[in-house]
Amino acid sequence: MPNRPYIVGNWKMNGTRAMLSEARAIDRAAARYPGVQVALAPPFTLIAAMAAEAQAIGIGGQDCHTAVKGAHTGDISAAMLADAGAKLAIVGHSERRGDHGETDAVVKAKAEVALAQGLGVIVCVGETLAERDAGNAEAVVKGQVAASLPDLPEEPQRVAVAYEPVWAIGTGRVAAVSDVIAMHRAIRATLTQAWGAEGAKVRILYGGSVNAENAGDLLAAEGVGGALVGGASLTAESFLAIVAAASSAREE
Ligand code: 13P
Repeated sequence: MPNRPYIVGNWKMNGTRAMLSEARAIDRAAARYPGVQVALAPPFTLIAAMAAEAQAIGIGGQDCHTAVKGAHTGDISAAMLADAGAKLAIVGHSERRGDHGETDAVVKAKAEVALAQGLGVIVCVGETLAERDAGNAEAVVKGQVAASLPDLPEEPQRVAVAYEPVWAIGTGRVAAVSDVIAMHRAIRATLTQAWGAEGAKVRILYGGSVNAENAGDLLAAEGVGGALVGGASLTAESFLAIVAAASSAREE
């Protein structure tokens, strides 16, 4: 099982060229943590500029279309991401599922096209508060994983799953470590069901209000292979504190 923690910053719809200096600082400092794999997913407009300079970190897109090219105004394909220097694509983020009506089938198609273009993918899943309160969190997330996961690729280690409970995103309300452990175990079981032994090669990340204070406990938890970080990835100072926590959690 891959044990290098994977710390990914998702800038969402934040960042103009003025913020390239933050990415530069993150890249420079990440070189000091070879035991941690670090990536940033800026808005599409910054990918090429960041990728041209990045040495220690991977640069990725926050989405891609299911097609490689065509009449889809405003969309970006996985081939275009790769051409701009991206190494990965996030697919199925709850904000995409919510804002753009993306279904599990669409997310699966996006993951497959991204893999076919040579990118790594992070498939996002997570329950809403209503689903958790109704006692359905595990069933919902297992269902999302089973239906959003690409068919077994040649290099399953290029796939990561991010568990991001919707109620924990941008709210400052982080999931309890025990709940994260239980959910990651359920996700692992679903991966093994789908891919057999190869399912062990997928890293499972946690996302939702991860910050410098809570990262250490989350990243040391059983089955947590990294973090997908929103707000706290927007400055080098806060993001690097999480990278440092991942490095220490690994050494413990
Ligand atoms: P926050 O870290 O801002 O809660 O966002 C999490 C997220 O959605 C990352 O993809």
